[in-house]
Amino acid sequence: MTPIKKLFPKRTAAKSSKPGGMGEKIPRHVAIIMDGNGRWAKSRNKPRTEGHKIGAKRVSEITEAAMRSGVEFLTLFAFSSENWNRPKSEIDALMNLLVISIKTHGKKLVKDRVRFRAIGNVSALPKKCLNAIEKLEEKTKNFDGRNLVLALNYGARDELVRAVRKISNSAKIGEIDPNKIEWEDVARNLDTADIPDPDLLIRTSGEMRLSNYLLMQSAYAELYFTDVCWPDFTAEEFSKALKEYGRRERRYGLTGEQILER
Ligand code: IPE
Ligand code: IPE
Ligand code: MG
Repeated sequence: MTPIKKLFPKRTAAKSSKPGGMGEKIPRHVAIIMDGNGRWAKSRNKPRTEGHKIGAKRVSEITEAAMRSGVEFLTLFAFSSENWNRPKSEIDALMNLLVISIKTHGKKLVKDRVRFRAIGNVSALPKKCLNAIEKLEEKTKNFDGRNLVLALNYGARDELVRAVRKISNSAKIGEIDPNKIEWEDVARNLDTADIPDPDLLIRTSGEMRLSNYLLMQSAYAELYFTDVCWPDFTAEEFSKALKEYGRRERRYGLTGEQILER
């Protein structure tokens, strides 16, 4: 296996994209749907939770790979608002793993000066998870340039509903004119208010759907699907996704000719 350091030589000035920029080679923001832990475990006759455990270990490796390659934001889908419908034993295992991972992985984030944040309806998570999240957010809040965002109890529809409620309340008290609401006003009320839109969205495990992940923010994201399950998604696999991204032409509604003229 190629070592991360070789795959992603350290960059001093990241050649990442400007928001809305075109023709960039390194995505500024990569979002990942970390899927396939259960099937990975099942195919090895192991319990699903074993897949989650190995999957959690991949998070450090991919975070390091992303940051080294010049990606400024990495947003990982770790638990969806729909995942509460899973068996209680699996949910409990996932929540325990979350606390352990934040504690162990957190030290490395602080050392590497990576800002950590969570998006989603985080306040509804078990108290021990919320505490661990808030602690690490606080410890890393002054770092910028490198960002790890975990989507926890996240669902795009839930996020939109929460945003609509906030905007409606502002309109009710006369802070905003309903007829003057623009996309920017909506975006400002989403969980990702100060996070740029994803440039590249990766889903592992062969599923080709978005499962309620960053639906608004991914309007112009390049999509990358791989059959590899998340526990096997190494830095090498991540580099394949970045290479594929580099081959894409982002057009934002323009023609190919217009893009060439820019
Ligand atoms: C992704 O793996 C992790 C979470 C959704 C928490 P899954 O647990 O969905 O694995 P599969 O899709 O059942 O294989
Ligand atoms: C999406 O995966 C959620 C996470 C990766 C955390 P799921 O496994 O829950 O999605 P579906 O059910 O296959 O659409
Ligand atoms: Mg799944």
